[in-house]
Amino acid sequence: MARKSSRLPGFYKLSLEERVAAVGHWAGLDGAERELLAAGLSPHTANQMIENGIGTHALPLGIAVNFLIDGRDYLIPMAVEEPSVIAAVSHAAKLARAGGGFQTEATDPIMIGQIQLLEIDDLERAAQSVVAHKAELMAAADACSQSIVRYGGGACDLEVRRFPDTPVGPMLVVHLLYDTRDAMGANAINTAVEALAPRIEDLTGGRANLRILSNLNDRRLATARCTIPAEALAGPGIPGDLVARRIEEANTFAVVDPYRAATHNKGIMNGVDAVCIATGNDWRAVEAGAHAYAARNGQYQALTGWHVDRNGDLHGTLTLPLAVGIVGGATRVHPTARMCLRILNVSSAAELARLMVAVGLAQNLAALKALVTSGIQQGHMRLHARQVALAAGAQGEQIEEVTRQLIADGNIRVAYAAQLLSGTSHEKD
Ligand code: MEV
Repeated sequence: MARKSSRLPGFYKLSLEERVAAVGHWAGLDGAERELLAAGLSPHTANQMIENGIGTHALPLGIAVNFLIDGRDYLIPMAVEEPSVIAAVSHAAKLARAGGGFQTEATDPIMIGQIQLLEIDDLERAAQSVVAHKAELMAAADACSQSIVRYGGGACDLEVRRFPDTPVGPMLVVHLLYDTRDAMGANAINTAVEALAPRIEDLTGGRANLRILSNLNDRRLATARCTIPAEALAGPGIPGDLVARRIEEANTFAVVDPYRAATHNKGIMNGVDAVCIATGNDWRAVEAGAHAYAARNGQYQALTGWHVDRNGDLHGTLTLPLAVGIVGGATRVHPTARMCLRILNVSSAAELARLMVAVGLAQNLAALKALVTSGIQQGHMRLHARQVALAAGAQGEQIEEVTRQLIADGNIRVAYAAQLLSGTSHEKD
């Protein structure tokens, strides 16, 4: 079979229906699946997912193109309300493609479950008692979720952390490390720590308070790297190696200054969240993990690294904790999420995490490149003007024409676009 490319020049110019058909064809979706993609979540299914349901709240769903990750092409579904996110990430993926695409890796999907123990007389003895019964406790954790164990997951280790001096007295925290395979794993890990708590109370003589997963998933990491050849970064009147150096400077700003780091990392999460939402994953968990990880050195910092080599080429890297799954929860119940996973055609949660971190790196590259060159508003303004043209009813070639005119006249309003359109059609009569 011919290798499928995610380079789809002119994809953005297609009509909505043509794009659905192109993606459906690309991903091999049958007629029923394409209908499901268009129909989305029904109020009936939504009502079964949450309490007190009154309907659904839709978001735009788009496709990022040009992604080449570990030698394979992907079309990336993204659910996001912010204009320019998808165009920008597709542009950055094209730049990365010029340097061979993204190289990624992921750890095993290991979650951490925490058990907080209080009212302990001898912290050291309690800690040793837990460690001495590790095998028994891990077997008890495995007994809670036999399906995950059957797929090769389950308890992998137990760790003990001591907090001798807290405002509520000495505290022992037990960490259960648990491989959740293709599930995000919140249910499995929470069930396991709740099940272990009474036995750990016996072993320590303490009282278990919280029994819950940690969202600082620093054992469940995914990393993406890319190299952008300097010439690919060149713009009108600016050489590529200069853009590369400015991107390195911009990244350094976010390494040293938390005020900038927050915005920088927000830009990364524009892309990561959009894929999380499209695939029915818990984006609040991923957000919490990313920002906690960004502060792991005691100061909140950029999650990315960018540096320029001697040739002027730009090298980027991003590592993120990514607790995402491809089975269970909304990934299966939500029809759009199911179809998005079909489009991605990933075979494991780790593969999904690898794609997401590549998207995060691309999103950051796009933002930094715009910021160090024309500024972010120019691109935004173009897309905004295009949306205004479409809202006023522009079609085909009119879209570009009206968009250009709205920007040139500095009047980006639907009423003005409609006025321009009526002028255009008069001329044609
Ligand atoms: C906007 O949603 C995201 C940016 O602010 C990110 C950044 O500044 O790096 C453009």
